[in-house]
Amino acid sequence: MKHEFEFDFKRIRLKPLEKEDIELLRLLRNQEKEYFATHQEIKKEDQDIWFESYLKKENDIMFKIVKKDKPKEFIGAIALYDIDWENKISEFGRVVVDKEKAPEKGIGTEATKAVCLFGFEVLKLNKIKGEILKSNGRIIKVDQRVGFSIVGEQDDMFNIEITRNSLCLD
Ligand SMILES: CC(C)(COP(=O)(O)OP(=O)(O)OC[C@H]1O[C@@H](n2cnc3c(N)ncnc32)[C@H](O)[C@@H]1OP(=O)(O)O)[C@@H](O)C(=O)NCCC(=O)NCCS
Repeated sequence: MKHEFEFDFKRIRLKPLEKEDIELLRLLRNQEKEYFATHQEIKKEDQDIWFESYLKKENDIMFKIVKKDKPKEFIGAIALYDIDWENKISEFGRVVVDKEKAPEKGIGTEATKAVCLFGFEVLKLNKIKGEILKSNGRIIKVDQRVGFSIVGEQDDMFNIEITRNSLCLD
């Protein structure tokens, strides 16, 4: 959806994903496609269509990740989506960090903590859920460090969940 949320946490800032970011996001996402449930290459025209439909969804908040000390540079993205406003439950995902632009350790962890804290404090969510590939050791490590628990599995995916009380902000 079109939004104006911004959220700072430690070294990073979450900002609205804008049209000017989507080509960088597409290239990064294609580079890292093996780590996502849908492995296919995203074409430029598909990305444009996706962004237009994203803007119309009232339950989808997509952020770009920037560093506070370099706020104009896109270094990745993260999202809360399929937000159930009535029950205050959201999916989280589409996490990707460009390790060439952000080689520092802990950026993905900070972005994940930031989006969860935003979800609990600003949107007043009760629960945040996700699905991750069992083969993706990095995101399993990041999400467990943030406080997510594995609550189920299907085929090659784990189901994960977090509530405010389990969120680790250290
Ligand atoms: C997953 C991702 C967002 C994490 O970002 P990041 O900035 O590298 O994250 P962090 O530095 O906070 O933490 C990564 C941790 O995973 C560890 N790690 C790296 N490769 C690993 C592997 N194969 N198995 C287990 N842990 C691994 C790192 O050592 C680090 O832990 P440490 O701090 O104890 O050393 C980023 O790597 C990425 O964009 N990956 C591709 C896209 C992706 O997988 N998205 C998730 C789809 S559900």
